[in-house]
Amino acid sequence: MIGAGHWCGKPRPIKGLAGISGLFRGLLMRQLVAGNWKMNGLSADLAELEALKGGVGEAACDVLVCPPATLIARATWAVKGAFALGGQDCHAEISGAFTGEVSAEMLKDAGASAVIVGHSERRQYSGETDAIVASKAKAAWRAGLKAIICIGETEAQRQGGEANMVCQGQLAGSVPADATADNTAIAYEPVWAIGTGRTPTSDDIAAMHLHIRRSLVEHLGPAAMGMLILYGGSVKPSNAAEILALPDVGGALVGGASLKAKDFLAIIAACAK
Ligand code: PGA
Repeated sequence: MIGAGHWCGKPRPIKGLAGISGLFRGLLMRQLVAGNWKMNGLSADLAELEALKGGVGEAACDVLVCPPATLIARATWAVKGAFALGGQDCHAEISGAFTGEVSAEMLKDAGASAVIVGHSERRQYSGETDAIVASKAKAAWRAGLKAIICIGETEAQRQGGEANMVCQGQLAGSVPADATADNTAIAYEPVWAIGTGRTPTSDDIAAMHLHIRRSLVEHLGPAAMGMLILYGGSVKPSNAAEILALPDVGGALVGGASLKAKDFLAIIAACAK
């Protein structure tokens, strides 16, 4: 079964949060490094997945690649379960008259084990609201997929001191109340850091992840304690080790640097052991 067991591997002790609050004294799951190919990838690019397959054997983290939907089935054959495959979006309905759309069940059928929902590019270009994102997360679970639910503030919101409030609001609206650490991961992706080469400071990433953890626990209760919170936005080989070592960073969602196996493998190698 392709992707079975991914991102639910062995637990590791939570780092950095001990002593802050009893709520956080749990176990954090193995880190997850997920690649989001966006609207990139033709048949020839399956070679990158072959190269990745050759290199992930020793990974200390779970690995997921979300190629375009057109490549998932062939990627499934190519990678033979060496790492998990996912979709970049799904429709909320199972099937029907929704021309051009792909359902979570179709992704599952093609070999996916996860799907990204609520990416800021979908929120921005396709007008996805928190309610739509929540319905897509539920569709993912219905199909037996894990959901990676994306949140993140714009630059203007950060400069206006609204980043915490915006992210908390997106969590409340986009993460259904029955989300658990087993069926969901959160990706914190500041919109201004995506594809720009700019990243928040390490202190800002750590502070936001702590804020997200607290907001999730408030929203979901103890089910949120082990939920992975990924950082996304200009993660690359040169900054991955620092970011992945931060308290409560449960992994990374990687765009541009996931397109080349060499770069993506360097990020995977930077995972906390
Ligand atoms: P980036 O994209 O790594 O190219 O900044 C991240 C994302 O959008 O998921």
